Amino acid sequence: MPRTALAAVHDGHGDRLAVREIRVADPGPGEVLVRIAASGVCGSDRHVLDGEWSLPTPTVMGHEGAGVVEAAGPGVTDVAPGDTVILSWYYPCRRCRACAAGKAWACTGTRANECLLPDGTTRLSDAGGVVYPYLAVGTMSEYAVVPESAAIRVPADVPMDVASLIGCSITTGVGAVVNNARVPAGAGAVVVGCGGVGLAVVMGLALAGAYPIVAVDTAEEKLAAARSFGATHTVRAGGDVAGEVAEITSGGADYAFEVIGRVGTIESLPSLLTTGGVGVLVGLPPQGVRAGIDVLELAESGKTLIGSNYGGAVPSLDFPRLARLYLAGRLPLDSLISHRVRLDEVNEAFDAMRAGTRTRSVIVF
Ligand code: APR
Ligand code: ZN
Repeated sequence: MPRTALAAVHDGHGDRLAVREIRVADPGPGEVLVRIAASGVCGSDRHVLDGEWSLPTPTVMGHEGAGVVEAAGPGVTDVAPGDTVILSWYYPCRRCRACAAGKAWACTGTRANECLLPDGTTRLSDAGGVVYPYLAVGTMSEYAVVPESAAIRVPADVPMDVASLIGCSITTGVGAVVNNARVPAGAGAVVVGCGGVGLAVVMGLALAGAYPIVAVDTAEEKLAAARSFGATHTVRAGGDVAGEVAEITSGGADYAFEVIGRVGTIESLPSLLTTGGVGVLVGLPPQGVRAGIDVLELAESGKTLIGSNYGGAVPSLDFPRLARLYLAGRLPLDSLISHRVRLDEVNEAFDAMRAGTRTRSVIVF
């Protein structure tokens, strides 16, 4: 039976979200209806609201969410009503070459980036017609209908607010360390940008046993947060960051992570590395942005730059792993949440992100 849901909707003009009712149809074959319990407020949504990335609209925003399966469509076998699930914002098609190779994050058959279900439609609508779920999940809504490959079952004792963060920032940040860079114990690392994702990179480095772990940010509060998650040194952006990093790391880091998506910090990433070091691009810039690299310096010093999408994760493997590490006290994920807010406080949460005053807001339903 179709239902209505309160949702935070981007109508395509301006950066304000409208919190209003939408209609949610029943899940079709291979789809599940999820009652959302928590949705994090992540930087990628802000890119859309600030006009840096284009999307079909109107769109239910939010891509970092967790909830409980309320109903399963025909043929669903992965999950059942009552299961606690974390939503993956890049559902794999399970048929393409990348999926066959176990690289769900690189799936080429998904329609998640078009905000569409596998059959090219959505289950959301309003009086004006089709409504799109951001990245096929649209977690800033009381209900979502997603492909079953986007609903990953996790133990029910993981708190929903913590679970929601595993859906994006934690997987993106910790995954960049353990899946993409594969940082070994004792390696020196630097993290540029300590928002929700950057702090997850810091946590991942602490888990991996990196040393030193140097955090760089413009905001002193973010540096204090980074220290609490395992950064051994902090550098306030603005001065001679490369010089300070070279001093702390005895000549340059083995690994450097850019977690803002700013051209300037992306271009200066190689300058933070020692010879043979690896720079990891985690932050996402506005569409079409290009960066300049000193190619001779990069080549001669044998440095590598790698892209990191969704932490190189296979959500069905990585989400339960991260949940278990949290439950075992190995990842302090709850400390990342600085503000728990209501859905109708979503615009204030994005404003706080723009001002850099919060580590992470989570909408609790
Ligand atoms: N130097 C260092 N730090 C900076 C600078 C700078 N020039 N400019 C901004 N920052 C810091 C901010 O103070 C903030 O702590 O970068 C951080 C950005 O964090 P958030 O805005 O909270 O964004 P987050 O959700 O962490 O996402 C970061 O990763 O996945 C991508 O799309 C996402 O591009 C976004 C990035
Ligand atoms: Zn995100």
